[in-house]
Amino acid sequence: MKHSATLSEAHARASGPLPEPTLAYFPNARFVPSDRDPGARAARPVRGGVAVAENSSDFGHVPVLLHRCVELLTPALTRYHPDGSGAVLVDATLGAGGHAERFLTELPGLRLIGLDRDPSALDIARDRLAPFADRVTLVRTRYDGLGAALAESGHAAAESVDGALFDLGVSSMQLDRAERGFAYAQDAPLDMRMDPSSPLTAADIVNNYDEAELADILHRYGEERFARRIAAQIVRQRARAPFTSTAELVALLYQAIPAPARRTGGHPAKRTFQALRIAVNDELTSLGSALPAALDALAGGGRIVVLAYQSLEDRIVKRVFADAVASRTPVDLPFELPGHEPRFRSLTRGAERADAAEVERNPRSAAVRLRALERLGQTVESQQASGKGDS
Ligand SMILES: C[S@@+](CC[C@H](N)C(=O)[O-])C[C@H]1O[C@@H](n2cnc3c(N)ncnc32)[C@H](O)[C@@H]1O
Repeated sequence: MKHSATLSEAHARASGPLPEPTLAYFPNARFVPSDRDPGARAARPVRGGVAVAENSSDFGHVPVLLHRCVELLTPALTRYHPDGSGAVLVDATLGAGGHAERFLTELPGLRLIGLDRDPSALDIARDRLAPFADRVTLVRTRYDGLGAALAESGHAAAESVDGALFDLGVSSMQLDRAERGFAYAQDAPLDMRMDPSSPLTAADIVNNYDEAELADILHRYGEERFARRIAAQIVRQRARAPFTSTAELVALLYQAIPAPARRTGGHPAKRTFQALRIAVNDELTSLGSALPAALDALAGGGRIVVLAYQSLEDRIVKRVFADAVASRTPVDLPFELPGHEPRFRSLTRGAERADAAEVERNPRSAAVRLRALERLGQTVESQQASGKGDS
């Protein structure tokens, strides 16, 4: 397995002991923590510095819509050879490697390039994917660095891969590591960085951004109705003492959000935590440039699947995909102008959701919206005729 230099540095950093989780301050809580709501997760048992699920076979994170992802991507990955030989899949959000492991198991000829910005996710995935090491390349990068990651692993940025998978957002392992500050149900430093070496933390934003900027972040990234009120109270409170912990912020949110809204709008900290996480990790900008790069990287007949868990991300996916399936021929022309035809076709009608049985098994899947495209230009049959799978 090939690793970028930064990955091994991160490996050394990634395995500190977890502090005992402390209970966050929840005055008047009328709320039942649920995995449907990422920030609500309570701490799980910890092994080897990594929080794990009760069923350790899922490495702390149960992959969502796994069967559907396989069903959608397999035709593109088996077009050269039924065992995936000759095909390359980019998993742009490797996480614990759950989706990746299934593809590598089912397609013993497939090559996989796995990206993640979080070095501890890469550590977990590296262990899990060790049996497939000769077919796997791991790269520590933001997914908008996909072009450079492809170059690093010997592939062109354009038309060089057969499948791409984006399973967006935070992983269960990130939520389970209390000290990373993603979960409002656990008291922890206000951090929320997916890449612990990036400079900006949630505490930096909360303690330094001016009131208007704070309100804008909460409104835009959290769709928080009470954004201005929360921002004003944050600014007042931090003048007395800066915020250092998630519990301090949760306590303020209980005061800032009026009681009736607290009872109806989900956990009062949910939208603020989502907003801060998106801002800290620059998630929407990163996605907005990663998706076009992934579409460019697909060869004709290649396929992409994206799983989004909140509406701001899904809106970006929808917009980029709508653009990709649109014809560029002027609408008043009665024929398709050569070179202006759509580059992709949609494989899904609207967004697909998890069914009730999966939501029951894995509450995290309740929010998922799956969209998928296929690149036009070379059909599966013509790829087979070109004989790439025979090599
Ligand atoms: C939902 S998890 C993926 C889980 C994975 N599919 C599995 O089955 O184990 C999302 C992962 O994407 C990573 N991630 C989120 N935003 C990223 C970005 N902009 N660039 C690279 N990785 C990112 C997170 O660090 C996290 O590990």
